[in-house]
Amino acid sequence: MGTSVAMIERHYGQTNVLMGLEHETAKRRKPKKAQAADAANPDATANIEAKPTAKKSHKLHKQPIKTDATIPAGAVDMTPVDDGSDEYEICLEQLSFFTYCLRRTGQIRPPEHARRRPMTHDELVTEARAIVARQVTSDMDSEQKDELLEQALMSLLDRKVAMPFFGKAGILGAGGGAAVPGRYLMHDDPRLPPMPEKPTLIDFFEKRILLMARGGQHLLQSARLAQKNGLPEKIVLACLLHDIAVTAHIRSDHGYYGAQLIEPYVDEEVSWAVRYHQALRFYPDPQMNYEYPELYTRTFGEEYRPPAYIQRDYEQARNHKWYMSARLVTCNDLYSFDPNVKVEIDDFKDLIGRNFRQPEEGLGFDNTPSSHMWRSIIWPNNFL
Ligand SMILES: [Fe+2]
Ligand SMILES: [Fe+2]
Repeated sequence: MGTSVAMIERHYGQTNVLMGLEHETAKRRKPKKAQAADAANPDATANIEAKPTAKKSHKLHKQPIKTDATIPAGAVDMTPVDDGSDEYEICLEQLSFFTYCLRRTGQIRPPEHARRRPMTHDELVTEARAIVARQVTSDMDSEQKDELLEQALMSLLDRKVAMPFFGKAGILGAGGGAAVPGRYLMHDDPRLPPMPEKPTLIDFFEKRILLMARGGQHLLQSARLAQKNGLPEKIVLACLLHDIAVTAHIRSDHGYYGAQLIEPYVDEEVSWAVRYHQALRFYPDPQMNYEYPELYTRTFGEEYRPPAYIQRDYEQARNHKWYMSARLVTCNDLYSFDPNVKVEIDDFKDLIGRNFRQPEEGLGFDNTPSSHMWRSIIWPNNFL
């Protein structure tokens, strides 16, 4: 069962995922075997049968998700689906925590947690097709049938989902998203694991941060490295939380946001180190064997120079009594992982218990200057 870009946008309200795919630059070719299979079965997508003569629909097939068009290095995982087919599974990690798995055929395979939704994507489409089958007539052309299918899908959807604010700005930059009628989802999102009433930091790791497998493991493995290096608990905690913003909240200026997020709950030195690690990452420290990351050269270009406020904050940090705390975060800021090593958040349970002041009311509901930020991690797609 295949489907069109527009339809998936409507199902999931994630215009940016699809726009992202369409705007990619690197190219992955469809395997020959899959091309042959397509040729043998050119309309495996929308084969809604008209009565009494079947007239096949082509519109959907002509607009598959452009999974063979464009994957930027590092932005997606692309691994063969292990069911013996030539399909690839593409996992896109988005700012809004969703990992979408799009099959080359245009199928969506929702992530594990999303499969617990009351209605899966396949069930939704099956039900929509059943509705269309009752409405379609022999004089309809393929476009009219596709129209019916889209209407049926829309009628089955309860809510559309707004993009988070910062993501929305990105969408506008990429050309804007299509307007879709319907009500907006607010608060609990059935695609995300439910959070308890009084969530702890561990809950945030388990039910949000670690949904981003790579980002989550980056935090755990950085903390593990700091521990292995015999660093004090404060530094291990700073490593564990240093990229919490980019993983669970917002990418831009992540050190500053991350520090603000944790400030009410940790020792001042910990949030200070998280704040300044962002600036320090751009400046070598030969005495600590810290060099400008090669990754930054690849990611931002040879010519990139940090803006004035980063330069200023680096200068300030360099002369600060806690300089070494932030520097140690950068020294343990791991970029390459041993895929065979899996660190668990439970390994840090005791350390968190000793160093993170968990509020009784739960993070997000304790009325601190950063409570709203924790709430936006719980409900990342609220319209308001
Ligand atoms: Fe960072
Ligand atoms: Fe990092």
